[in-house]
Amino acid sequence: MSDIAFDAPTIIRTKRDGGRLSDAAIDWVIEGFTDGRVADVQMAALLMAIFWRGLDHRELARWTAAMLASGARLDFTGLSSGGRPLMTVDKHSTGGVGDKTTLVLVPVVAACGAAVPKVSGRGLGHTGGTLDKLESIAGFTAEISTRQVRQQLCDIGAAIFAAGELAPADKLIYALRDITSTVDSLPLIASSVMSKKLAEGIGALVLDVKVGSGALLPESQCRELARTMVELGAAHGVPTRAVLTDMECPLGAAVGNALEVGEALEVLAGGGPADVVELTVQLAAEMLALSGVDGRDPAETLRDGTAMDLFRRLVGAQGGDLSIPLPIGAHTETVIAARSGTMGTIDAMAVGLTAWRLGAGRSRPGGAVQPGAGVRIHRRPGEPVAAGQPLFTLYTDTPERFTAALAELDGGFSVDDSAPAARPLILDRIGA
Ligand code: URA
Repeated sequence: MSDIAFDAPTIIRTKRDGGRLSDAAIDWVIEGFTDGRVADVQMAALLMAIFWRGLDHRELARWTAAMLASGARLDFTGLSSGGRPLMTVDKHSTGGVGDKTTLVLVPVVAACGAAVPKVSGRGLGHTGGTLDKLESIAGFTAEISTRQVRQQLCDIGAAIFAAGELAPADKLIYALRDITSTVDSLPLIASSVMSKKLAEGIGALVLDVKVGSGALLPESQCRELARTMVELGAAHGVPTRAVLTDMECPLGAAVGNALEVGEALEVLAGGGPADVVELTVQLAAEMLALSGVDGRDPAETLRDGTAMDLFRRLVGAQGGDLSIPLPIGAHTETVIAARSGTMGTIDAMAVGLTAWRLGAGRSRPGGAVQPGAGVRIHRRPGEPVAAGQPLFTLYTDTPERFTAALAELDGGFSVDDSAPAARPLILDRIGA
């Protein structure tokens, strides 16, 4: 597209002043950013303008389509396993704290008979990323070829991989958003999620839209986000369902990359926290229903070890070695209960930021994360607490981080006289 027709400063100014971006301007800026003609600072300014001014329905549809068109698209039609055509399905979460569901869900759904080509991302803001978690397993790589993805789908039924050539505009924009406080924007989240997911060439999609203090958006916008993404999916011919789930409190008891892998392994072994199990089984049922796979009971695959076997095969196929112990931060700090009572609510955002301060997330593009950094929660909401008992253990390799991390956690939990009101984990469903 001609550089004479458009320039980044005009596009930024148009959005900054509340104007509409034309289809051609959107195509130009996404294409130009992907191939380097639009600079990071210009895209960062445009993202901030979008953060404040938003994108209307038509702009968002075009922005998403342009991101999708920035790269390759996978196509799994014609693939089969054991003589049966593969029914592909995926799920994507809008980002939570302690949300290790993907690590369990992918093998569960594959063990039930569907095929899951799962594109995953890295941590964003205070939320963890599946790739950062999996890379805490020695040797694991998410950078696998499309050929390997296809092979794994036929042999194992699942692959978890980096977007690579899929929606490269998202990879670049995602990294900028992470360090410019432009993560929590409805159109930027919707286009980011849907461009990658539509590029996967899947037959059906389930979205886990988080609602609550640890979610990326305030509760009032989560329903609209879900509706928007369902519409984008339908417009591209992919049956899409959104499940709104509670993220007021972290999911499970482990927050941080390797800590979460450890907890996912507990769930795959038939144990683990009840909320992680419930969410996994529920999302698996939605994925199987939407993809038309009348397979096994998802809960059964956790009880009989078939999901664990599948996870081990997946990790092995992608170079990981689960016999090597998971890393754990070399330094710890324990938060002790100052009084007896009942654990009150635990603020997911506070715990997410604590883990991030400890080194579980990044503060500059492409920075390294500490695989062993994070928070272990010893008392979950509603559990009895005795004065002096440990409530949280904080892990890091860099102990100078403790002061800021503890400050994030301060005020993010309480020990009360009575249990907090119980909140359902599954709040609503929208879409197909
Ligand atoms: N997940 C994504 O892929 N993108 C976002 O913007 C948020 C969550």
